[in-house]
Amino acid sequence: MAGLLDGQVALITGAGRGIGAATATLFAREGAKVVVNDLNAEPAEAVVAAIREAGGEAIAVPGDVTAPDFPETIVRTAVETFGKLNILVNNAGFTWDGVIHKMTDEQWQTILDVHATAPFRLIRAAAPYMRDVAKQELAEGRTPEPRCIINVSSTSGLHGNAGQANYATAKMGIVGLTKTVAKEWGRFGIRCNAVAFGYIDTRLTQPKEKGETVEVAGRKIAIGIPEARRELIPMLIPLGRAGTPEEAAGAVLFLASPLASYVTGHVLEVTGGYGI
Ligand SMILES: NC(=O)c1ccc[n+]([C@@H]2O[C@H](COP(=O)([O-])OP(=O)(O)OC[C@H]3O[C@@H](n4cnc5c(N)ncnc54)[C@H](O)[C@@H]3O)[C@@H](O)[C@H]2O)c1
Repeated sequence: MAGLLDGQVALITGAGRGIGAATATLFAREGAKVVVNDLNAEPAEAVVAAIREAGGEAIAVPGDVTAPDFPETIVRTAVETFGKLNILVNNAGFTWDGVIHKMTDEQWQTILDVHATAPFRLIRAAAPYMRDVAKQELAEGRTPEPRCIINVSSTSGLHGNAGQANYATAKMGIVGLTKTVAKEWGRFGIRCNAVAFGYIDTRLTQPKEKGETVEVAGRKIAIGIPEARRELIPMLIPLGRAGTPEEAAGAVLFLASPLASYVTGHVLEVTGGYGI
């Protein structure tokens, strides 16, 4: 049976867990060859193994998207391995919460780096293989291949969120980046959209009391949502529950697929109705 992404190559950052892992799995099932990035090699390789076991094609390229030279390296690896790049999903990230009057410069910059600067650099690194190739195809009178970028945003960005000045700023910043790329690259047939998630059940939204951490540059950063606050969230969501990573991935697939071929510069809210 034909898949929605047959013959396409997708690069997904932060795809060892949660929304990124579900997206990589779904994309592969729909026929894409997938480049699975994550900060942690082990979960990235596990996602690749599961995709291969199901008959799909994928490679793991572990690494930190905030390392200045990593975007060029991973994009080049994707193209050297699979011959081209059709879809870039900027998904990698984590939170480092704190009220604004106590937020350090490091806390601010770390979150801006992972959620705004890294996606910018990845898009810039992809330009030769997305923008320039499409320009060449058009110059030769050919219809460009399908190409698109999907940036992961958040309701914290769209509405603000107490304790997340850094994250909210970055997640709104990526909306500006999304709309700008849509305007710059639309004439090459390249679409650029964002998905703003609300409350999706992943490691990022586990109870903070569980003590989950992300280790970046030798520093352990606590992630998660305090249990008392976590219990309140479903009450604010019309559908009354968290979304699953698979439900989140479905929205990313829609935007990547031909079903959204006339959608660009859009922010799709996937929230169970939160914030409406
Ligand atoms: N879960 C939610 O409710 C929610 C809501 C809104 C937005 N988001 C966003 O969705 C995206 C995915 O998060 P998730 O909920 O699936 O969390 P997750 O922790 O399950 O997965 C995120 C993955 O990104 C990886 N990662 C983190 N920093 C990285 C880096 N510098 N380089 C490479 N990989 C890195 C982590 O190792 C992890 O495997 C993030 O951008 C997050 O901000 C999540």
